[in-house]
Amino acid sequence: MKNAAQVRHLTIAFDNKPIVNDVCLDIPSHQISVLVGRSGSGKTTFLRAFNRLNEEHTGCQTSGELCLDLGTGLEKQSDIYAGSVTALRLRVGMLFQTPNVLPVSIWRNIAMPLEKLTNLSREAISQRVEKSLNDVGLWSEIHDRLHSPATRLSGGQQQRLCLARVLALEPKILLLDEPTASLDVLASKHIEQLLQQLVERYTIIMVSHSLSQACRLANKLFVFDSGNMVKSLSKQDGITEEKLAALIEPRL
Ligand SMILES: Nc1ncnc2c1ncn2[C@@H]1O[C@H](COP(=O)(O)OP(=O)(O)OP(=O)(O)O)[C@@H](O)[C@H]1O
Ligand SMILES: [Mg+2]
Repeated sequence: MKNAAQVRHLTIAFDNKPIVNDVCLDIPSHQISVLVGRSGSGKTTFLRAFNRLNEEHTGCQTSGELCLDLGTGLEKQSDIYAGSVTALRLRVGMLFQTPNVLPVSIWRNIAMPLEKLTNLSREAISQRVEKSLNDVGLWSEIHDRLHSPATRLSGGQQQRLCLARVLALEPKILLLDEPTASLDVLASKHIEQLLQQLVERYTIIMVSHSLSQACRLANKLFVFDSGNMVKSLSKQDGITEEKLAALIEPRL
C-alpha cells in the first residue's frame, strides 16, 4: 500500500503547551482516513499540520517529521515547501467545518483563487470552474445562476461550492474538518457519496464527530485522545460504532 503521508513523532504545542503529542501514523494514498476523538483532543490541530496552517498562530511550535507525496514520491514537507506555503496549500486543499463562501458570485468563488494562484488562461479557468462544479454535483443545479451571489445558495450547496473551490486547484490531498457538521441528513449523504467517488482521484483525511459516518467512510481510522493517537483501525479490522464509542467514551 502506497502512503500519501507519513507522520513521525509529530508534536505541536501552543505557548509551550503540547496539544498534539508524539504522533506517528501513515496515511494511505487514495483512501479515506478519518480522525475521531473527543472535543479538544487535537484533531483539527493535527489536520492543520498538513498544510502548515498552525504556523499562522504565533506561539505555535512544531517538531517531528511530516513527509508528503504530492506526486513525486514521499518527501519531507519542510524540504519541499520551505519557501512557499502557498505552493503547499495548492497541493493540500482544506475544507472547513462551516461553508466559507466569498461574498461574490458562484462563478467568482471558484475563478478568483485560480486567477490569483495559477497562470491559467481565462479559457482554462472557465473549464476548471465547470469541471469542479460538475465534480461536486452542483453544475446541473446552478448552471443558470452562476453569476448570482453564492450566499443565496443553501447550506449544503455552499459547502459543495467550497469543495468545488478546493478541487479546482487540483490538490493531491484533501483535508476535511467535519465537512458535514453544518448540514442536514440529506446534504450530508450527498457529500459522503461525493467523497466516495473523489477518493479515486484524491487522498482524503477528514475529521468526523459522527461515528456512523466514520464507519461508513473510513478505510483507515485514527482515534485521538488528549493529543495522543491512541488507536488505529483499518476497514479490514471491522470498524463498528460500538467499538468506536467504547474507545472515545467520555471520562466520568
Ligand atoms: N491557536 C491556538 N492557540 C492556543 N491553543 C489552541 C489553538 N488552537 C487550538 N488550541 C487548543 O488545542 C486543543 C485542541 O484543539 P483542536 O481544535 O485541535 O481540537 P479538536 O479535537 O479539533 O476539537 P473539536 O472536536 O471540538 O473540534 C484545545 O484545547 C484548543 O484550545
Ligand atoms: Mg476540531
